[in-house]
Amino acid sequence: MSASIKTSPKSGRPESNPGITGLPKYQPGKRVLAGGAQAIKLSSNESAFGASPAAIAAYHAIAPELHRYADASQAELREAIALAYGIEVRRIVCGNGSDEIINLLLRGFVQTGDELLLSENHFVMFAVHGRTQGARIVLAPERDCNMDVDALLGRVSPATRMVALANPNNPTGTYLSQSEIRRLHAGLPGNVLLVLDGAYAEYVTAADFDPGFSLVDANENVVVTHTFSKIYGLAGLRIGWTYAPDHVVDVLERIRSPFNASAAAQAAATAAVRDQDFVRRARDHNARWLDRLRRELNGIGIAVTPSVANFYLLHFDGKSGKSAPAAAAWLESRNIIPRLVMTGDTDNVLRITVGRDAENEAVIAALAGFMHS
Ligand SMILES: Cc1ncc(COP(=O)(O)O)c(C=O)c1O
Repeated sequence: MSASIKTSPKSGRPESNPGITGLPKYQPGKRVLAGGAQAIKLSSNESAFGASPAAIAAYHAIAPELHRYADASQAELREAIALAYGIEVRRIVCGNGSDEIINLLLRGFVQTGDELLLSENHFVMFAVHGRTQGARIVLAPERDCNMDVDALLGRVSPATRMVALANPNNPTGTYLSQSEIRRLHAGLPGNVLLVLDGAYAEYVTAADFDPGFSLVDANENVVVTHTFSKIYGLAGLRIGWTYAPDHVVDVLERIRSPFNASAAAQAAATAAVRDQDFVRRARDHNARWLDRLRRELNGIGIAVTPSVANFYLLHFDGKSGKSAPAAAAWLESRNIIPRLVMTGDTDNVLRITVGRDAENEAVIAALAGFMHS
């Protein structure tokens, strides 16, 4: 036997990578209630409107072709995205949800011992994929549940390889303006990759928000990710994309599975992104309800973090039984499913997705009952 072949005792067993030890399992938003009652599901920031009828028709239309592999070059979808967003087709790579894209970016650019810099209330999958790569997670504190550029820049070290932010952020719904993102980027060394996750970007109506495509065009160390899971209503199909500098695209194209974006997902997403009227209606509905929900919830004594996304973080003070878990139980007993969130800031918060008119009315009525109970 060659001396270079390692043997291990028979009683041993394979060990997982060290970063995985102690990693908690992702807790998805609840889908159903005990007893299977018909519920208003507001736990996963899914679209209030579902998918565009054009996307559903495209999904049905591809059924006779299901025995064929998908187009590995993702050409039609990438062209449709480029047209809709006014960006360069060669810089787009699609994936099995933006979650896969985030995973690929970490696999491609972060290794054991590197630092992954996140904001305190980060999207959890950044940390999951980072830890799996053996990265050390460094957290920058937030101010009023929003990302803080000075705190982030203050934690950049020679070991920092990536800064990943959701903008707008989940679970807070807060965002950094274009000038703040540019200030952050200007303070980063050129070898640090800035990942701007725009899962909720299509919902934002604030004039000082920018999704970051022009930063990608002008720099080698910025990437933007987007998803079809939120405003496009295709969460179940798993399709997302990134806009990245050429050298990052080259890495992703070498490490991704060739058929990571399924044929059905590509077909539906292509039709969805071409239906920007549907997107505008969803954004308008969301903006109207963000305003109304904030006013109504404040009116019954519930503070919310200002949000530009399709959800709110509701804060409870825990006094007189008015805690987030009690509010969640109250809502669930009325067939409404919210999401309990453990943020770094407080554990007394609840996240609620903006739903359809009647769903939002039901939330307001139920929470008013809870606060007066
Ligand atoms: C900020 C953020 N990024 C990425 C994702 C993942 O989305 P996808 O369904 O595209 O994997 C989510 C899903 O909730 C999210 O909230």
